[in-house]
Amino acid sequence: MAQPTHDWEPTSWRLRKAAQSPTWPDDEHLARVERELATKPPLVFAGEARRLQEHLGQVVDGRAFLLQAGDCAESFNEGSADAIRDKLKVILQMAVALTYAAGVPVIKVGRIAGQFAKPRSDAYEVRDGVTLDAFRGHIVNDEAFDAESRRPDPDRMLAAYHQSVATLNLLRAFTTGGFAALSRVHAWNQEFVANSLEGKRYAMLADEIERALQFMKACGIDLHDDSSLQGVDFYTSHEALILPYEQALTRRDSLSGDWYDCSAHMLWIGDRTRQLDGAHVEFLRGVANPLGLKVGPTLDVDELRRLVDVLNPDNVPGRLTLISRMGHELITEKLPPLVGALRDEGQRVLWTCDPMHGNTFQASGGQKTRRFDDILSETSQFFAIHQSLGTWPGGLHVELTGDNVTECLGGGSRLGEGDLDFNYTSICDPRLNATQSLDMAFHVAEFLQRYSADSGARSL
Ligand code: PEP
Ligand code: CO
Repeated sequence: MAQPTHDWEPTSWRLRKAAQSPTWPDDEHLARVERELATKPPLVFAGEARRLQEHLGQVVDGRAFLLQAGDCAESFNEGSADAIRDKLKVILQMAVALTYAAGVPVIKVGRIAGQFAKPRSDAYEVRDGVTLDAFRGHIVNDEAFDAESRRPDPDRMLAAYHQSVATLNLLRAFTTGGFAALSRVHAWNQEFVANSLEGKRYAMLADEIERALQFMKACGIDLHDDSSLQGVDFYTSHEALILPYEQALTRRDSLSGDWYDCSAHMLWIGDRTRQLDGAHVEFLRGVANPLGLKVGPTLDVDELRRLVDVLNPDNVPGRLTLISRMGHELITEKLPPLVGALRDEGQRVLWTCDPMHGNTFQASGGQKTRRFDDILSETSQFFAIHQSLGTWPGGLHVELTGDNVTECLGGGSRLGEGDLDFNYTSICDPRLNATQSLDMAFHVAEFLQRYSADSGARSL
């Protein structure tokens, strides 16, 4: 039986200030929805969350790599089977390239089946002299700019739960039913390499993977029969922002006696809600799921140390993933002191790179966007920093979609500012499209190969 977490109850966050929380207009309505959610079946199971934590523990030891990816904000209007399939497909394709390059398993975690809530820089939005609540994600309100749409509505939490159920159901089917078979995913990658300009650069890597598969076949492994090659483990995650929702889905595990937030396998704390004395840190320290913590440029070594102590007091590898999101201009100044300090103290944390959230800017046409080159530059600096500190660059955290959207600039498809309006469908931040995502994965595969070659050379 695990140690009980001191002075913690699923409700103890209520005594703290919850940053970024909507002002729900009707407390009784909110309480009714919380009671209803509390009677619903869990979305995920404690045993699955424990298994993910074990996998993440292997990443901490440099024996695996984490790929966390999906929408910035899932939409109530975009939960179709095709959209989910295409998103999963691109994540699986990225994972195959990374697995081959890293030579270790890639742990796949989606920003999916619950990623509905958004923190905002401003609580209100003003247009033409009219002030309304900011859009906070479909679990809270709607993006249309009128008073009714922007009013926080607790019934949306029930809708978010039901969409998450449907999404998870499909993910479980896709990841075990043959869709995710290695030979199939590899064939999609070969298509990308053969049919796209940006793919051609990676012909060599794709050929090497093909040769590796041929070798396995020659050794008697049946690629179409071996059960470990027919399916994949796929986990869910989201930012645990709306605490009434998270609390209502929190259950005590009958096996371990621990509390688990059963809304997703992994939950993370955003860069705007990581106050040491705040409600989000209080809630998440008490659940036994693997946790993420966004680490932005304003976090100093001292505060990070204290957060790590609160969130992972027993220094369990896999419990805490630190998601660096510094921006390409600041990472080389801001990240090394943090990584170095925790390394020197023997903290067993997983470091992963979110090269998206520090690189957002407004295009001249007003759209929020990001440059592929900035995203890549931050990632490459992340690898270089870990190389020089002798630590493992444990993962990549990206916002993407399987659709052919035009939200981020550049990449192989060379999207320019004039292209942004063609297919900009994100309800929040700009995402990599399928081609840009694969392009990114093959670049990171090269970083991983270089990291291993340099580390190998150093240890000779
Ligand atoms: C996000 O991951 O969508 C997000 C809002 O990130 P951050 O908290 O790092 O700004
Ligand atoms: Co985002």
